[in-house]
Amino acid sequence: MQLIIFSKMENIANQKEYRVLFVCLGNICRSPAAEGILKDMVSKAGLSNKISVDSAGTSGYHEGSLPDERMRKHGRMRGYDFCSLSRKFRSSDFDKFDIILVMDDSNYDKIMRLSPSVEDEKKVYRMADFLQHLSADHIPDPYYSGDEGFEFVLDLLEDACTGLFNKLRNGEL
Ligand code: 4NP
Repeated sequence: MQLIIFSKMENIANQKEYRVLFVCLGNICRSPAAEGILKDMVSKAGLSNKISVDSAGTSGYHEGSLPDERMRKHGRMRGYDFCSLSRKFRSSDFDKFDIILVMDDSNYDKIMRLSPSVEDEKKVYRMADFLQHLSADHIPDPYYSGDEGFEFVLDLLEDACTGLFNKLRNGEL
């Protein structure tokens, strides 16, 4: 038992630090859900002081709002409390974060245009590239969909967050 605790403490001490930012269009559906899911994984692994997680939108349409009530409801059905307030992405976020994950090509193009340097561009990843079991080339916007659209987005985000978390835990990014 002592050995297990010591080995876990050693793993945490060696854990590389990351500041992770998820980005979508409105910052009320996909990116706050990804934020809540990854935070849950990080917290359960005891790594909250090593891996910080935030989210933002390429638009400021919903600045200051809680996540969409439909996303909150579907999140609650899986045990999450999505409660971050929407804010717009700024180019200074490139200084504040190590990893920036976008949900679709439109997010990707907008964020890349705001990148201050070629070095900063290397921080931008597509969330769909971390999918383990499901297959998709982007995380679709569920805003105009029904219940199945929100459930599908949560399936994709849980799968991709698992792949992402494994890489963060192993210091692979
Ligand atoms: P999100 O979804 O980008 O996943 O937050 C959307 C939320 C709001 C709008 C579009 C997408 N909107 O047009 O207001």
